[in-house]
Amino acid sequence: MNEILRISKTFFGYLKRPRLYPELGRKIIKNIFSRNAAFRGKEKTFLWASAKAISPEEALKILFGFEMKPFSELFPEELKAAQQKEKSCPIKMGGAGALELIYSACEFTHAKNVVETGVAYGWSSFAALLSLAKRNGTLYSSDMPYLDQNGDQYVGCVVPEKLKSNWKLFRHADKESLPKIFGEAHEFDVVHYDSDKAYEGMSWAYSQLYPRLRAGGVFISDDINDNSAFQDFCEKNGIEPTVVDFEGKFVGIFLKN
Ligand SMILES: C[S@@+](CC[C@H](N)C(=O)[O-])C[C@H]1O[C@@H](n2cnc3c(N)ncnc32)[C@H](O)[C@@H]1O
Repeated sequence: MNEILRISKTFFGYLKRPRLYPELGRKIIKNIFSRNAAFRGKEKTFLWASAKAISPEEALKILFGFEMKPFSELFPEELKAAQQKEKSCPIKMGGAGALELIYSACEFTHAKNVVETGVAYGWSSFAALLSLAKRNGTLYSSDMPYLDQNGDQYVGCVVPEKLKSNWKLFRHADKESLPKIFGEAHEFDVVHYDSDKAYEGMSWAYSQLYPRLRAGGVFISDDINDNSAFQDFCEKNGIEPTVVDFEGKFVGIFLKN
């Protein structure tokens, strides 16, 4: 019963937002013709990722030569205020990812342009913006809100006001947002993928984002164990990624040659 209610709420959420009609059409077609394709290769990648996985601390050392300093030490005031905002948010969304990885990738590349997919509360945006603001750089984000909760106004709610001048948020599905973002910026120092977790969505976005990552730039994808899209993409392109075990989930990360 709860599932039926959630699906109905999501469907009406789409209907109320014409900018998301293209995604609604794609979702309907996907659900009719390839319902289980989202998880393609999940078992294979779980074994692959488990065998390769290292801790965030090791990854920062190996990839960037940085010692990991927790956010609670780097930005105690900003973190406390953001946690307070998450706590008072009336809707529940996906929680914080590996903030130190995202922040360090921006610091390592002296990032001026960063693109991310998937915002929710805005934890990854918060981490990237804290670095970008030092160079007056720009974060381009793509996000489709959680439609069953009607929470558009809370997307990115943990991002402090003072960082918003460095932020451009595109409120469409990635397939519409990314072309708009690429119309404004052609090359990025860091790419962070954390939105649609279906095989096709990930593969499509990787194929769009990778060519626009500059040489020496950092590519990060969350939840690479949901299917084999990340592994397959790396194998096809001769990339040897680092896999990070973050609180039981796997994050894929590599530097572009
Ligand atoms: C895991 S959350 C992102 C968490 C965020 N990166 C953070 O660190 O706080 C995933 C977000 O991606 C959005 N999303 C899912 N599919 C999408 C799509 N096809 N296009 C754009 N956004 C999408 C969800 O609505 C949700 O807000």
